[in-house]
Amino acid sequence: MNADNDSTRDNSAQQASAETVSGRQDAANPPVSTTPSGTSHIRSFVHRRAHITPSQREALDRLMPLWAVPYQARQLDFQEVFGRDAPTILEIGFGMGETTQKIALARPEDNFLGVEVFNAGVGAMLKRIDESGLTNVKVIQHDAVEVLQHMIPPASLAGVHIYFPDPWPKKRHHKRRLIQPPLVKLLASRMKPGAYIHLATDWENYAEQMLEVLSGEETLENTTDGYAPRPDYRPLTKFEARGLRLGHGVWDLIFKRKADVP
Ligand SMILES: C[S@@+](CC[C@H](N)C(=O)[O-])C[C@H]1O[C@@H](n2cnc3c(N)ncnc32)[C@H](O)[C@@H]1O
Repeated sequence: MNADNDSTRDNSAQQASAETVSGRQDAANPPVSTTPSGTSHIRSFVHRRAHITPSQREALDRLMPLWAVPYQARQLDFQEVFGRDAPTILEIGFGMGETTQKIALARPEDNFLGVEVFNAGVGAMLKRIDESGLTNVKVIQHDAVEVLQHMIPPASLAGVHIYFPDPWPKKRHHKRRLIQPPLVKLLASRMKPGAYIHLATDWENYAEQMLEVLSGEETLENTTDGYAPRPDYRPLTKFEARGLRLGHGVWDLIFKRKADVP
């Protein structure tokens, strides 16, 4: 594990994420993405050469055409993507897809659009979709910021899930954290009035930042006072359960888009 993103929590996706920092990119001077339209942002991830298993590789080759939506700078029509008219939940950074699979199985009435950059994670998620016979999950392998900018229509999402985003614990790396005011403003603009955004983290200092940023977005309102209890639909991962046994905290935040904003 690399000291640049030295999560001490034993979350497999966090660990995989950290393994790949490995000095090929300078995390303190992060790469900036520039889109064809000229906008730019600091990337919240690093390119990874983490291990990919033969079955994840096979899943990528065989299942991408079935369950993945290629990145393109054109707005999606969710009805066309999922073949039905249903509430669509965007998940950013699903990692190995364990939580996504459980939620999608428990909520067959909702569509889930998962965005992840990590090859092995996308392969693992595609395997889960295939093995569970899920028909309500689609995957985009791309930077979620660009997906939000170019593919998600305004006021189209019924919900947003961002679970355990990379904590970037060192102060000099905080600029790489996903949850920042411009991203949250962009996310809120893609949510329908009344839609929810649900974040979870096991880093107290990131939880505080999340609460400050979400509370500062004028089109959102908290569904509770401060942090929310974990809702039943978000399963406890084995890493989280172990962390909780060791006395580590987990913070959930659930905000809604105000109904009366343009
Ligand atoms: C620490 S992992 C958490 C994974 C999973 N949500 C969980 O709870 O185990 C964060 C994930 O977010 C992904 N990620 C970070 N920034 C992203 C971005 N801008 N677009 C898409 N995925 C991103 C990383 O590749 C990584 O897999």
